[in-house]
Amino acid sequence: MKPVLSVTSECVPLIKTGGLADVAGALPGALSPFGWEMRTLLPGYRQVMSRCRKAKSVMDLPDLFGGAVRVLQAKVDGLKLYVLDAPHLFDREGTPYLDPQGRDFPDNPERFAALSWVAARIACEGIGGWTPKVLHGHDWQAGLAAYFARKAGCEVATVFTIHNIAFQGVAPADRIGRLKLDRADFTARGFEYWGQVSTMKAALIWSDRITTVSPTYAAELQTPEFGMGMEGLLRSREADLKGILNGIDTDVWNPATDPEIASYKTAKGKARAKTKLLKEFGLQPTDGPLCAVISRLSHQKGLDVLLEALPALVDRGGQLVLLGSGDAALEAALRNASSHPNVAVHIGYDEGMSHRIMAGADAILVPSRFEPCGLTQLYGLRYGTIPVVAMTGGLADTVINASPMALRSGVATGVQFQPVTAHALASALIRTVELFKDKPTWEALQRNAMRQEVGWEASAAEYAALYEEVARSR
Ligand code: ADP
Ligand code: GLC
Repeated sequence: MKPVLSVTSECVPLIKTGGLADVAGALPGALSPFGWEMRTLLPGYRQVMSRCRKAKSVMDLPDLFGGAVRVLQAKVDGLKLYVLDAPHLFDREGTPYLDPQGRDFPDNPERFAALSWVAARIACEGIGGWTPKVLHGHDWQAGLAAYFARKAGCEVATVFTIHNIAFQGVAPADRIGRLKLDRADFTARGFEYWGQVSTMKAALIWSDRITTVSPTYAAELQTPEFGMGMEGLLRSREADLKGILNGIDTDVWNPATDPEIASYKTAKGKARAKTKLLKEFGLQPTDGPLCAVISRLSHQKGLDVLLEALPALVDRGGQLVLLGSGDAALEAALRNASSHPNVAVHIGYDEGMSHRIMAGADAILVPSRFEPCGLTQLYGLRYGTIPVVAMTGGLADTVINASPMALRSGVATGVQFQPVTAHALASALIRTVELFKDKPTWEALQRNAMRQEVGWEASAAEYAALYEEVARSR
């Protein structure tokens, strides 16, 4: 097996705030049939350390960013892990990035520079006799890995995946020394970004290849609207930039075996799941579609726009059930909206509930302003829960809009709209209600949706081919 080290700040089943964790958790299993052994380097947060009690130490460093650290080797649910046990950086309450009050940890730049530095050390010197051929970093948290590897003079091949360009790993310039960065690289052609340091920019400069999680986002990233300041740099690296779609875990997301629901093999079985879901959320049955949202509540996800467009749905007998958490103002606005008899909102994070909603709902709404890939529309396809999505990023690449032609040709799987405005979304919701009432058409959509290939196989093959190519070219 050819060795590849994945460097990530989250990974299912140990720690998750979003889709990055799902992707990091799925890639190792998906890549092994292609001859790549992926091991994963992860910070030793409390939630991670509690799963690694029996792990052995394979690297000791007396002082890294102000404290002693160890790298533990562990195996959890088949994943081969290296855990960066650095209590002064990671043994804290809160999420991977935020304190219990929801504020960024002030030393986030140091915390993730440490992760990247250790990744480079492993790639350059090996660990316990294992030396990766490819170093694959994810998002700004792993942004300095390729930089540190090059600075150490090692020739490991490097790949970096952009899951979300909105988070750019920015730190004040006076931290350069503390972050173990070379001041000589604080230039426009280096990691300097509007007078500050950006670890995302460093990754886009020093990595051999760049990927992102859908072909459309790869193109969008090269425009000012979506590149968020990095578009020029990404255009200059177009030849090395590739969009590879995310897959989903089709064992975990399988309506035929899902332990959270009365399982079903065809969309017909959804009726029971819907009845249960309506009961769980205290909604009365109507003759309109039950639409769902399962999401982080952030500006990216366009849920403020959904609130504006919502009358178009609920005034026509449609219903909304929403599960999410995040932005406090959005949480409050959504709670407010749930006073309508056709709207139910659960603020929180609940894996089991997300499965019950996916099974019981008729449609899954994803009105994102930008969406690098998106996973919930893929769960929707698998569960015969029709995606109603903005035409952007991975949402554009994974859903086939129910245009008259697509309906006639029998290939449509969902509803797409653009731009992300209340008006366009309201029209999409009205279209959804009409499609839902036309039973044969709706059932055809469901059948098409459930036939889509949403697993990892095709994309894992693309990553494997990319690793081969980049390892060869170094
Ligand atoms: P992002 O990574 O931008 O948040 P994705 O669609 O890629 O968006 O991934 C989100 C993941 O998090 C999905 O697996 C989704 O089901 C899950 N998720 C989001 N919010 C919740 C929640 N409140 N409860 C349970 N799962 C959630
Ligand atoms: C990011 C994106 C999301 C993507 C996920 C996994 O969080 O917002 O679209 O699916 O990463 O790649």
